[in-house]
Amino acid sequence: MGVKPRSLSGIKPTGTPHLGNYLGMIKPALQMQETHETFYFIADYHALTSTHDPNKLKENSYDLTAIFASLGMDFENHAFFRQSDIPEVTELTWILSCITPKGLMERAHAFKDANSKKLEVNMGLFSYPVLMACDILIYDSNFVPVGKDQRQHLEITRDLAIRFNNLFGEVFVIPEAIIQNDVATIPGLDGRKMSKSYGNVVPLMASETQFRKSIMKITTDSKTVEESKDPDKCNVFALYKCFSSDSDQKKLASLYRAGGLGYGEAKQFCFEALNYELREPREKYQEIRKDLPQLEGILESGRDKAREIARQVTDRVRSKVGL
Ligand code: TRP
Repeated sequence: MGVKPRSLSGIKPTGTPHLGNYLGMIKPALQMQETHETFYFIADYHALTSTHDPNKLKENSYDLTAIFASLGMDFENHAFFRQSDIPEVTELTWILSCITPKGLMERAHAFKDANSKKLEVNMGLFSYPVLMACDILIYDSNFVPVGKDQRQHLEITRDLAIRFNNLFGEVFVIPEAIIQNDVATIPGLDGRKMSKSYGNVVPLMASETQFRKSIMKITTDSKTVEESKDPDKCNVFALYKCFSSDSDQKKLASLYRAGGLGYGEAKQFCFEALNYELREPREKYQEIRKDLPQLEGILESGRDKAREIARQVTDRVRSKVGL
């Protein structure tokens, strides 16, 4: 550890992780294990801004741990942990809050959206970006793989880090976002972006039957089997593309254009491509998810690695600001 650049990301335990989360964040984050020292965590403090169900929070956190385990995260050389196991992050949040302009928070999307819809805004939601900045800065992170929707949060993080460094001297590493452009917006079952809030998601670790059912539900137009179809306007094809090689995509695209391929059959191809990639992880997941001592062990070893660095960075900050 130590020589490779550090990649860090967080994922909120607020629902069942779906294919959009997998393609947009989890998969690329795990691929980075080859070239980076990776730190991934369950953003449970962030989840508290919107979830007030203790059981769900716990269960969702175990789900995520089991997902990362079943998709091949190497916990020896990398760290997977709970945000709330590192209390220093809340200490740093206070310190950083004290140099954060209120106007910057008022321009943050999550706050603006909630506020314009006249939804209740708690202080946690309002200062969400400061906590997120601290998540990143407290581990001297170099890179942050995230979905497109997090771009603004990364800009805020960089702004705050630069501001702090200008005020107190070089303390923070300035992180860079890695946005997965080609898969940043995964089509959901209805063609809109796959998102929990639209209820159009395919759960990542669903059973094979549920998985097939979800795919069969994808909305298509009403062309007959014989008619020629446009792959680039088809939700099924869009999802297929995320799970297949270039040459397989070309093959299916020409079947679409030729006519004679019904959407039912296209969905079957789509199902097979997805299932090919996810069958083994799903089986592993079912095993590991039951083994709570193993899941706790993973989280403890992650906590120990993360906390050591968080302590060093927090000490650096405390001494710079005069605490
Ligand atoms: N805000 C992110 C989301 O909603 C989750 C998150 C919290 C995060 N802290 C982070 C992501 C730090 C990257 C880095 O998806």
